[in-house]
Amino acid sequence: MKQVEVAAIGVGWVGGTRVETLSRTALVDKLHICDIKPERLAELKARYRPATATLDYQDIIKNDNISVVYISTTPESNHYPIARDCLKAGKNVMLEKPIALELWEADELIMLARRNNLKFTIGYSQRFNTKIAYAKKKIVDGTLGKVVSVLVSRHLSRALGKKIASRVRLSPVVMESTHDLDFVMWLLEPAKPVRVYSQGAYGYMEPVNGSHDVMFTTVTMDNGVVVMIGGGWNFPESFPNYCSTWIEITGTDGALVLDDTQRDNWLNTEKTGQIFPMSTMPGEQVDHVFAGGMGPETIHFLEACIRNTPVMVTPESARVVMETYTAADLSAERNEPVDLPLTNETIAAVADFKAKFRQGINPAVAKP
Ligand SMILES: NC(=O)c1ccc[n+]([C@@H]2O[C@H](COP(=O)([O-])OP(=O)(O)OC[C@H]3O[C@@H](n4cnc5c(N)ncnc54)[C@H](O)[C@@H]3O)[C@@H](O)[C@H]2O)c1
Repeated sequence: MKQVEVAAIGVGWVGGTRVETLSRTALVDKLHICDIKPERLAELKARYRPATATLDYQDIIKNDNISVVYISTTPESNHYPIARDCLKAGKNVMLEKPIALELWEADELIMLARRNNLKFTIGYSQRFNTKIAYAKKKIVDGTLGKVVSVLVSRHLSRALGKKIASRVRLSPVVMESTHDLDFVMWLLEPAKPVRVYSQGAYGYMEPVNGSHDVMFTTVTMDNGVVVMIGGGWNFPESFPNYCSTWIEITGTDGALVLDDTQRDNWLNTEKTGQIFPMSTMPGEQVDHVFAGGMGPETIHFLEACIRNTPVMVTPESARVVMETYTAADLSAERNEPVDLPLTNETIAAVADFKAKFRQGINPAVAKP
């Protein structure tokens, strides 16, 4: 049986989930882990007994025996340099979203992967959610007829919102609706997005980090399908990293409604009160079985590398998603629709917007 040496760079919450899956599969010959936090590295080293554990990802780069790398680092500004170094060193890379912070960075990563004939994918784990897979199947087999509209509403708990929005100044559409933009674009392939209109609303998060609580984004596709995606992070704190999603797809021959609000598992104890276990977005290992999409997604990439088969999420599709949420951010700031593909004028406006946003001035509230 063919096995490969695999590394995980960044082994916090999500990277820890990847390592758990990688430590269980016979496809991995040797597992290597890397994190800049010594205490987290020591914790996972004791739990999974990897072949090596390092504080410096250059040790992974230098090890020619490692052919597959999972990158799950934060802040998101280090996705691009770490992925670039891995791809330059000839590693196959699975990188968590977002692919990069700038479109040119994404383009360079895509070019490096193509030039070096490497597998490169982005962690859009919702494509491995069985409900989303079912929606794809029912659209492709024609059950719904011609798709007319798609609605997705996703809310995360505010504890997770605070964690995400405090490390890099990114909006809910970039950090959360990105998953929905990805799977909706996948459902609607080969249609392409041509117009984006987004509105954001302030609430709990504004005094915390200047961010919108919720953004609602309308995307018009080139075949006329209308998409509405709501994404936010102001739900009250609940089961660690609780996520609730509601999906409606209408077509000329039928409709599909998917309840992914995660209320189907209900644990109530004197100690914790009511919680909805197994309700995180990526999912979690439950003894011998993985509840959610990230476990199968982790194995899928490994198999794609070993068998030389296509990856589920191409980096080119992640780039389309990036352009769409970039347009959404600009639309919310300008209070007007933005056309896709972005023009030189809108790309320049995005650069100004991002510069102000990263300095801590939220352009949506700043007065000239
Ligand atoms: N697919 C999903 O459902 C999903 C869900 C949540 C988060 N994410 C994405 O996964 C990524 C990780 O999120 P998280 O919640 O696990 O974050 P986290 O902060 O819990 O973990 C990130 C880890 O990266 C480490 N790190 C930072 N710089 C490093 C470096 N140079 N070398 C090695 N390690 C380094 C940190 O020490 C930390 O342990 C994010 O980009 C996020 O957008 C995806």
